[in-house]
Amino acid sequence: MTHLLGHTPTPLPCVSGDIESAGVSVPFPPIFLSPNASGFVLASGIAGDRRWLFAVSAEHRGVTDDTDRSGVHVVALCGSLRDGSYTRRALSRALDGTRAAGGTGTVIDLREYDLPPLDPDRETQGDSDAVVRRVREADAVLLGTPMYHGSYSGVLKNALDHCGFDEFEGKTVGLLAVAGGGFPVTALDHLRSVCRALDAWVLPHQAALPSVSSKFDAEGIVDDGLDERVRVLGRRVVEYARIEPDPSSFEAGENVGAGD
Ligand SMILES: Cc1cc2nc3c(=O)[nH]c(=O)nc-3n(C[C@H](O)[C@H](O)[C@H](O)COP(=O)(O)O)c2cc1C
Repeated sequence: MTHLLGHTPTPLPCVSGDIESAGVSVPFPPIFLSPNASGFVLASGIAGDRRWLFAVSAEHRGVTDDTDRSGVHVVALCGSLRDGSYTRRALSRALDGTRAAGGTGTVIDLREYDLPPLDPDRETQGDSDAVVRRVREADAVLLGTPMYHGSYSGVLKNALDHCGFDEFEGKTVGLLAVAGGGFPVTALDHLRSVCRALDAWVLPHQAALPSVSSKFDAEGIVDDGLDERVRVLGRRVVEYARIEPDPSSFEAGENVGAGD
C-alpha cells in the first residue's frame, strides 16, 4: 500500500493523491527520510518530471522496517599504500557523508597491517585476522582503489582475497576509484564483478575521480559536483546498509573456493 503525502520543496510540481490511482509506478530505490507514527517509511523519489514524497509499507520490495541508521558502522578499505593517496583522502571525504547520515565510519589503512599475499594453505597470515574481522564486523563497506593498469589495485585484491562470504554476503558496498588519467570505469566494473561473486549488495551510485591530482587541493576536493558524488556515496551505504539482500548471484554459486 502506497500513499502520496505531499512534495518536497523543489521546483518540481506537487502531485497529491494515491500513487497507484495516479498511474505512477513507485520509483526505486527510494531515499529514506524517516519512519512515521503508523509504521510507514517516508521516502522520496522522482517519477517522470515530478518529485514524490510518499509512504511505503515495510513489506514493499526492497524496503526494510529498520530505518534507525544510528548504529550503522562503515569501514572504507583503501587500495593504495601511497602516503599522499588520493584514494584515502576521497574515502575519508565519503565517510563525512556517512556521518552526516547518522552512521560511523573509519578508513582501513592497509599500511598499518602486515597483509602478505594470500596463501590459501595457511589459516591466518600476519595481521589478516584483524583486517578480516574489521570488515566482517562492519555493517557496510566502501571499497576505494587507484586505477592501476586499467583495473583496481593488487593491494585491494589481496585484501579481498583474504575475505570471503562471511565478510561480504548480503553486505552493502559502495565503490570509489581514482585515476591519474581518464575515468577509472574499468576499475569500478571489475570491483563490481568481484562483489557479485561474494554476493555483496553494491550500490548503483559509484564515485569516479579522473585526473585526480587536479581534483584536490590542501583542503580537499575542489570540484563541488565531484565532492557531492563522493559524499553521497558515503551517505548511501548508510541508507541502504539494511536493505533486504537479493537472491544469491550466479557468480557467487561459481565461487567454489571462497568458503574453504
Ligand atoms: C602501477 C600503476 C599503474 C597505473 N595505471 C594507471 C592506469 O591504468 N590509468 C590511469 O589513469 N592511471 C594509472 N595510474 C595512476 C594512478 O591511478 C594515480 O597515480 C592515482 O593517483 C593513484 O592513487 P593514489 O593517489 O590513491 O595512490 C597508475 C599508477 C601506478 C603506480
